[in-house]
Amino acid sequence: MSHSPDKKMNIAFLASHGGSNMQAIIDAVKLGRINANLVAVISNNSGSMALKRAKKENIPYYHVSNLTHGTPEEMDAGIVSILKTSGADLVVLAGYMKKIGDRTLEAFKGRILNIHPALLPKFGGQGLYGKRVHEAVLKSGDPVTGVTIHLVDEKYDTGPILAQEQVAVLKDDTIDSLAERVLKKEHTLYAETIAKIISREILLPDT
Ligand code: GRF
Repeated sequence: MSHSPDKKMNIAFLASHGGSNMQAIIDAVKLGRINANLVAVISNNSGSMALKRAKKENIPYYHVSNLTHGTPEEMDAGIVSILKTSGADLVVLAGYMKKIGDRTLEAFKGRILNIHPALLPKFGGQGLYGKRVHEAVLKSGDPVTGVTIHLVDEKYDTGPILAQEQVAVLKDDTIDSLAERVLKKEHTLYAETIAKIISREILLPDT
C-alpha cells in the first residue's frame, strides 16, 4: 500500500476505555495538524468513553466483543470487515486491551500503531499495561521512563519502534502522578507521530 502525502489518510481507532489518546488525535485533526479522515472507532467495551467520544464527534462507531461476535476468530473477522469497509489506511490502537487477531494483522500489516506508556523494550509485554507499567517503573528505581509508539506485530509490545520520548521520574512520584505526566506526553507524541507518518517524515514499511 503506498501513500502520497497530499492524500488524506483514513484513520480507524480501536479503544477499550477512556480514549483520551484518541481524543488528542481527533483534536489534532480538527486543528489541521493531522491531514486525515477519521473513519471508524471500534471498541470491545460497549460502555466505553471511547465510543461516547466517537458518537459526539460523529465518527462511525462499532461495538465488537464476544457478545456481538462469539469467538476471538469471529471478532477478528468482524474487525477486519469494519476496517476494510471503512477504507482505513492506518489503524490506531488507543488503549485497546484485546490482542489483535491474525486476520487483522495480515490485512493491515505494518499499518497498526500502538502506544505504550514506557520506554520499550523495558516495561513491556503481557501483563504490563496501565498502572502496572508505572508501578514497575517506580519499583525499578529508574530515573527516566517515557512513551513509545510502535507498529503492532503478533506479540505484545515487540513491533518496530517508530517514536519514543522520555519523561523524568520524580523523587516523590506516585503511580498516579507518574501515569498522569506520561499520559500528557502520550497525547502530544501520538498526534505528532501520526502527522509525521502522513507527511512521510516517518516511513512505514513498503510505502
Ligand atoms: C495509555 O496509557 C496507553 O499508553 C495505553 O493505554 C492507555 C490508554 O489511555 N496503551 P486512553 O484510553 O487513551 O485514555
